[in-house]
Amino acid sequence: MSYAARRLKDLANDHGTLTDKNGERYRLRPIRTTDAPSLMRGYDAMSDQSKWFRMLYTVPHLSEDMAEQFCAPDTARELCFVIEGQGELLGEILGGARIAGEDDGVAEFSVSLRPEAQTLGLASGALEAVLQAAHRKGFKHVWGTIAVQNAPMIALARRLGFNLLPDLDDASMIRADIDLPVPKSLIVDDDSAGHTK
Ligand SMILES: CC(C)(COP(=O)(O)OP(=O)(O)OC[C@H]1O[C@@H](n2cnc3c(N)ncnc32)[C@H](O)[C@@H]1OP(=O)(O)O)[C@@H](O)C(=O)NCCC(=O)NCCS
Repeated sequence: MSYAARRLKDLANDHGTLTDKNGERYRLRPIRTTDAPSLMRGYDAMSDQSKWFRMLYTVPHLSEDMAEQFCAPDTARELCFVIEGQGELLGEILGGARIAGEDDGVAEFSVSLRPEAQTLGLASGALEAVLQAAHRKGFKHVWGTIAVQNAPMIALARRLGFNLLPDLDDASMIRADIDLPVPKSLIVDDDSAGHTK
């Protein structure tokens, strides 16, 4: 089965499983309060630049309070899925994706991964899953702010079909917007090599 077909099957199975581009399967599940220590360790494993890209201000370490807050989303307006590690990272959270919105059906996304889990397609998969769940929850539109130097995030957003425009308030940022639901044709673009374009 191609990567794109597996991805479609994973999504049809709700947010239970993610398959990386090498065919490894990972458990994707809602974040729990007990994830806070792992979240702090994962954040510490990130480079200073990745931390800045994630937070858009300087946060050298996640405090216990911050981690606990991240791990206890307000389920009325937030969703957060995390990817469970395996092998040497068994028992750790690899990262994940979240959206936080208001009653107007509009939500802001964020996504991040420990360095060991990057470039495997897992961030794309987690964000896809959160966008699909956000739609089921009634959200209509998702947006985010990306630093212009954050090439991996810009590529990911483009791949998922976000509309990318310069942030008119800040030349160092890009504004990414997408309407829900995400059309399947934007997520799955199969070819014989099993890669999306
Ligand atoms: C931004 C970030 C989450 C991107 O992570 P990532 O692992 O590079 O993103 P992806 O999951 O899309 O993986 C990218 C790779 O998977 C591949 N991929 C993604 N979806 C795919 C698919 N459907 N089929 C085949 N390959 C796919 C891409 O081609 C890419 O491979 P390449 O490196 O060989 O080109 C990560 O760099 C990160 O955590 N950065 C720090 C925090 C941050 O910047 N957060 C964003 C704030 S807005």
